[in-house]
Amino acid sequence: MLVKILKENIKKILFKFSNLGSPRYSYNLDPSQLAEIVNSLNKVDELDGNICEIGVARGMTTRFICEHLKDLKIKPKYYCIDTFSSFVKEDIDHEIKQRNKSKSELIGFSYNNYDKWKKNFLNFPEVLPIQADIKNFDFNKIAPIKFAILDVDLYLPTLSSLERIKNHMSKGGILMVDDIKKNNSWDGASQAFYEIVKKYSLNYRLVGKKCGIIQF
Ligand SMILES: C[S@@+](CC[C@H](N)C(=O)[O-])C[C@H]1O[C@@H](n2cnc3c(N)ncnc32)[C@H](O)[C@@H]1O
Repeated sequence: MLVKILKENIKKILFKFSNLGSPRYSYNLDPSQLAEIVNSLNKVDELDGNICEIGVARGMTTRFICEHLKDLKIKPKYYCIDTFSSFVKEDIDHEIKQRNKSKSELIGFSYNNYDKWKKNFLNFPEVLPIQADIKNFDFNKIAPIKFAILDVDLYLPTLSSLERIKNHMSKGGILMVDDIKKNNSWDGASQAFYEIVKKYSLNYRLVGKKCGIIQF
């Protein structure tokens, strides 16, 4: 009882005199994308297939999805694919040499660590992390896929993923691609997205400020 009162008073002081209690938005995705994820997972709930996230960073969206999976009838396998060590040199070089980006604007995610990430999700057995450069990954290993988020920012890995993942989506499956927005550091994803939907005449729609959805 006494400890509880003491803790409550410490919280009161910290809230008033520091920023420790100030609310933060820690998601990489916009609220409209998070809503779209929930709606998409509900729609595909009874379809046959797994789900996957390509490009997971520290796992904020992964954790959000895990929370929603608790409410679904069928708990799918959730494959989480990343290098877990930031971008691949070849992909960065392409952005610099072919897309006029600077090295400094493409820095990020090098804090990541596969073993620590895996450990952070031990309480979620449906989460199956895979360490790979997505350009070399065989999507047969996780097919069929009923819902996927593709969020690797750059042109080459986005193009390579889209070229191949589309052949492994369940009928009725949904593919969400992040960063579908032009004229910014991550517009390689946008360029690849528009090239592929045009090349294969895929049905797509845009959600919020930076999200593309392809329905199969
Ligand atoms: C924007 S972050 C992903 C954010 C995450 N989806 C979220 O919502 O919090 C991009 C991630 O893509 C990964 N990535 C970039 N290129 C990759 C590649 N060729 N293969 C695998 N992962 C890659 C990076 O390591 C990084 O963690």
